[in-house]
Amino acid sequence: MHILVTGGAGFLGQQLIKRLLAQGQVQVDDSAAQGITAITALDVVAGALADPRLSNEVGDLSQPGLVASLLRKDTRLVVHLAAVVSGSAEADFDLGMRVNLDGTRALLEACRALGTQPRVVFTSSIAVFGGDMPAVVTDITPPTPQGSYGIQKLIGEHLVQDFSRKGFIDGRSVRVPTVVVRPGKPNGAASGFASGIIREPLAGIEAVLPVSPETVMWLASPAAVIGMLMHTIELSAQAWGWHRSINLPGLSATMQEELDALRVVGGEAAVKLVKYAPDEKVMRLVNTWAGRFDTSRALAMGYRADADVLSIVQGYAREYAQG
Ligand SMILES: NC(=O)c1ccc[n+]([C@@H]2O[C@H](COP(=O)([O-])OP(=O)(O)OC[C@H]3O[C@@H](n4cnc5c(N)ncnc54)[C@H](O)[C@@H]3O)[C@@H](O)[C@H]2O)c1
Repeated sequence: MHILVTGGAGFLGQQLIKRLLAQGQVQVDDSAAQGITAITALDVVAGALADPRLSNEVGDLSQPGLVASLLRKDTRLVVHLAAVVSGSAEADFDLGMRVNLDGTRALLEACRALGTQPRVVFTSSIAVFGGDMPAVVTDITPPTPQGSYGIQKLIGEHLVQDFSRKGFIDGRSVRVPTVVVRPGKPNGAASGFASGIIREPLAGIEAVLPVSPETVMWLASPAAVIGMLMHTIELSAQAWGWHRSINLPGLSATMQEELDALRVVGGEAAVKLVKYAPDEKVMRLVNTWAGRFDTSRALAMGYRADADVLSIVQGYAREYAQG
């Protein structure tokens, strides 16, 4: 079978493709696992992975006809990761609307036109929650996004829901927690500091904490998120029922707890490299995001989060910081 991964050159895209290629097969219908014969990674930049089964396509998701030209009769799975992320969508409204909204609709229409009801996994975000939140967000808390990115993600979820209801696709939207620790260069996400305050000091570089150390965020490690994406891919349609959006499990942690974990892994010298410099704009956006969740539905469906913040930081140090 063939798989299309949009945003395939991005952080999660590269890790997911690596995992799919290594696994070599995946179960997207109820009978048995199927061999992965080809993966197409679509992104505006070229991906770094090379494999005979992988083709890296450079192009813009929202360009008319592009996604349709990449889908095949044997495309059983589409993982839609391409996005203009939070800070960038807030800074450039038109770009966010074009990629996150028009691009997502174009992708869903192309999947519908296949006529084979492909499985579609859409990475939404906890940024669909915002404003006057209850102390704990539950599975029935109504999404009330406060930023353009969250609004665009929520509309994407609604489209996935309706395209699934109509039988055009077998869709599922997962609201991904903030991923820490993200290696490499930061992207345009407003939450980027949550990774930066670990990644930079462990590399001996200064980092800025633009929000209060008491700020609570809902976090998950890259490994946990990739595990949960694989689970999303393989869950049966019956396991989802009619409601195709879900809050993924994560950890509630303050930035201070991250710094405490940094102290254990990198020592006091690493913590001293983090400079507290409050940034009103970042704080306003991040403080509208929910930090505490009850993810009973996802846990009952077999999703699993990380054990604690320290294990996330230790995992990063093991895998990336020390090569
Ligand atoms: N990492 C997180 O903390 C987090 C949290 C919640 C949700 N998500 C969602 O998960 C997905 C992947 O996130 P990530 O961390 O890998 O981000 P990323 O920025 O590394 O990857 C997104 C990719 O989309 C590509 N892209 C942007 N515009 C495009 C276009 N017009 N056409 C094709 N490709 C385009 C980018 O070049 C980038 O490679 C995104 O949809 C993001 O909104 C991520």
